[in-house]
Amino acid sequence: MGKTSNISGFFKLTIDERLEAVRNFAGLSEADVAMLKNADALSLDTASRMVENVIGRIQIPMGVAANFLINGKEYFVPMAVEEPSVIAAASHAAKLTRTRGGIFTSNSGPVMIAQIQAVNVVDPYAARLRILERKDEILGLADTMDPILVKLGGGTRGLEVRVIDTRVGPMVITHLHVDTRDAMGANAVNTMAEALAPMIETITGGRVYLRILSNLADHRVVRARTVVAQEAFDAAEVVDGIVMASAFAEADPYRAATHNKGIMNGVSAVVLATGNDTRAVEAGAHSYAARNGVYTSLTRWEKTANGDLAGTLEMPMGVGLVGGATATHPIAKLAVKILGVKTAVELGEIIAAVGLAQNLAAVKVLATEGVQRGHMALHARNVAVNAGASGDLIDKVAEAMVRERKVRADRAVELLAEFRG
Ligand code: MEV
Repeated sequence: MGKTSNISGFFKLTIDERLEAVRNFAGLSEADVAMLKNADALSLDTASRMVENVIGRIQIPMGVAANFLINGKEYFVPMAVEEPSVIAAASHAAKLTRTRGGIFTSNSGPVMIAQIQAVNVVDPYAARLRILERKDEILGLADTMDPILVKLGGGTRGLEVRVIDTRVGPMVITHLHVDTRDAMGANAVNTMAEALAPMIETITGGRVYLRILSNLADHRVVRARTVVAQEAFDAAEVVDGIVMASAFAEADPYRAATHNKGIMNGVSAVVLATGNDTRAVEAGAHSYAARNGVYTSLTRWEKTANGDLAGTLEMPMGVGLVGGATATHPIAKLAVKILGVKTAVELGEIIAAVGLAQNLAAVKVLATEGVQRGHMALHARNVAVNAGASGDLIDKVAEAMVRERKVRADRAVELLAEFRG
């Protein structure tokens, strides 16, 4: 059998056993494993080269989601997140997706947008056409700013010009489309936009102010779809409940915000683990969710002709593999190694798959028992530990409290005394 991330009872293993499984899976070295266990993996020195005014570092747990089968390939997915249940939920949902072959993904290519804002243009509509007429010259100049990117197969891909109405008058907004390959691309496109500014001023006769990328990266979208067999659910109406949950989020911004938050639980955890910019991806996700003027959900869940559950997700994904913390943070480098991804689009597609699975787990639990039972079980474990339980007694005390629906410190102390005889 080939390697698999579908290891039954993975969550029950000790940390060392899990590390061993991931080491074998991803071909990590002893040094890699030591680094993962090293509390000082990100040294103060490295940290202070990453950002300013460093006084310390904050640690966030990193786990791996199991069971991911994406485009027929097995993945253990590193997730950095402070919230309990997220990694377990992703792993659970990933397992459900295996009932019909896993998750399938695609992408639009890694094309970022840079915006150049021209104001005080007396003839904005004519200026728009004057810019478009000089497309080749403009793209050519932009490409000269990053010959390495061009050599790697990236570079400018297109030009769009929009006239927008604002409260201070019309503005001519030039969009430069740039294939940034395996870079997130902020530096590349910002440099190009700044270099083009004088030319845009000459052509428009206006004044250029902002020259910066757009996080509404709708030419850099990733897509994930899956089907879950109806038999994977306890009851046939679970599929209907999930479809209802999806329709609710599609129609109502209040629900869509929480629905999408659940998607971002998975998305941001992988973005963070791989040293990418969580805010960039989050801004992209939410602006994309509102791109038609009303904020809506990023996923859709439907019932298929034979009663299975089909789910889809499409969202912008400005992530890279070169540069930034992905290149400097030792744990982020290991996260990429564990994933085994070779390109930024592959990374982006995996993140979309995790977002879809994370959403599946949430809507499934919401459409059935609700989130509180699972949360209470985790909470009960914490209460048991605080009451002094250790080893097997943690689960025994926690389970008894959940059964009795009395998850309280005083009851934990009593139960502990009873179990200890
Ligand atoms: C909690 O972090 C995420 C959920 O609220 C997502 C959702 O409601 O879909 C469970």
